[in-house]
Amino acid sequence: MTERIIPIADGRYERQRPFVPDLAAAPDGQLTDRRGRRLHDLRISVTDRCNFRCTYCMPKSVFGKDYAFLPQTSLLSFEEIDRLVRLFVAHGVEKIRLTGGEPLLRKHLERLIGMLAAIRTPAGEPLDLTLTTNASLLARKAQSLREAGLRRITVSLDALDDATFRRMNDVDFPVSDVLEGIAAAERAGLAPLKINMVVKRGVNDHEIVPMARHFRGTGHIVRFIEFMDVGASNGWRMDEVLPSAEIVRRIDAELPLTSLQPNYPGEVAERWAYRDGSGEIGVISSVTQPFCSDCSRARLSTEGSLYTCLFATGGHDLRALLRGGDSDERIAAAIGHLWGQREDRYSEIRSAETAPLRKIEMSYIGG
Ligand code: GTP
Ligand code: 5AD
Ligand code: SF4
Ligand code: SF4
Repeated sequence: MTERIIPIADGRYERQRPFVPDLAAAPDGQLTDRRGRRLHDLRISVTDRCNFRCTYCMPKSVFGKDYAFLPQTSLLSFEEIDRLVRLFVAHGVEKIRLTGGEPLLRKHLERLIGMLAAIRTPAGEPLDLTLTTNASLLARKAQSLREAGLRRITVSLDALDDATFRRMNDVDFPVSDVLEGIAAAERAGLAPLKINMVVKRGVNDHEIVPMARHFRGTGHIVRFIEFMDVGASNGWRMDEVLPSAEIVRRIDAELPLTSLQPNYPGEVAERWAYRDGSGEIGVISSVTQPFCSDCSRARLSTEGSLYTCLFATGGHDLRALLRGGDSDERIAAAIGHLWGQREDRYSEIRSAETAPLRKIEMSYIGG
């Protein structure tokens, strides 16, 4: 077998020009894949850059000083993103999450938010428009994001203990600045927030109960996430995964919990409420309890490739259609065809063999 050479920077990952069927019906908002799963969520990476180097996502050993991030011309423009989002919405997408890298590093992001906030579903509803951020720039930006039309926000925060947090972000960023960002989001009317904590056994698992305690009674929902084998560079090992069942057990021992029904079918987080009524938490168990059977999420990379699974090894180059002069009808037909063919269920088939595959990096397609 000859080895494929994959050029870095522009087109660093394998991607194919999408097939455009000639005889496609117009989108009817009911698109489903081969396993009967709807296309409901679109997660859009607006930059592959980040000012943190979380060891589980962008380890310094790979994302060092010499790492070639995408050049500006590779990025989808806001107009290109807006055009694609409208086509996805015609196919049934109702929820948009902006991610990165760190999305607040993308210049003039408020302008994109304003454009997306104006889009309506076929039923005339606004989109559920949200964003995942490390909150390092949130104190400065919360108000303008809200004014631009952002409806809610998710903050990544892996520890309250400053030394642990600095070790995890690996750029010596202080936790106090993140907490200020959260306070600014509250003032701007973006609360309640979701707060995502990736748990690594032996690294930050001692912070589980303090995080639960800190945010209990604030209305914010902390979600504890099992460390996943995303990408190909985070050195994932099963023995560093703390199963969600253990996370729930540890919290319940100190702050008694009771289970809650999902808010909607296919919800990623399993919900638990404090028995004393002081709020709720979530656990996201991609490793020990995969949720592929309901997965309705597509991902659009910074340079406009569509990925039908977080663990995909290749993408579909929608930018080539956008920049090649294809019509809306043809691009919608290509998206319909791609989703119609989809069979992904990586987390259900994860094994020692799949973990080292050359999967796409999460900073490139977004969490
Ligand atoms: P909300 O509507 O705000 O609750 O969004 P969400 O439930 O989709 O959660 P969020 O986008 O905050 O995702 C939280 C984390 O769950 C991500 O950062 C990933 O670690 C994990 N996750 C989200 N979607 C998927 C998925 O499709 N597959 C896998 N394996 N993990 C996912
Ligand atoms: N495992 C689990 N979640 C991850 N994220 C990034 N890398 C991983 C990983 N290896 C998610 C976290 C973070 C978001 C930006 O991406 O939820 O908050
Ligand atoms: Fe940056 Fe988020 Fe990845 Fe951390 S998890 S390196 S904050 S994109
Ligand atoms: Fe969806 Fe792939 Fe995650 Fe399964 S592993 S839930 S198919 S993104």
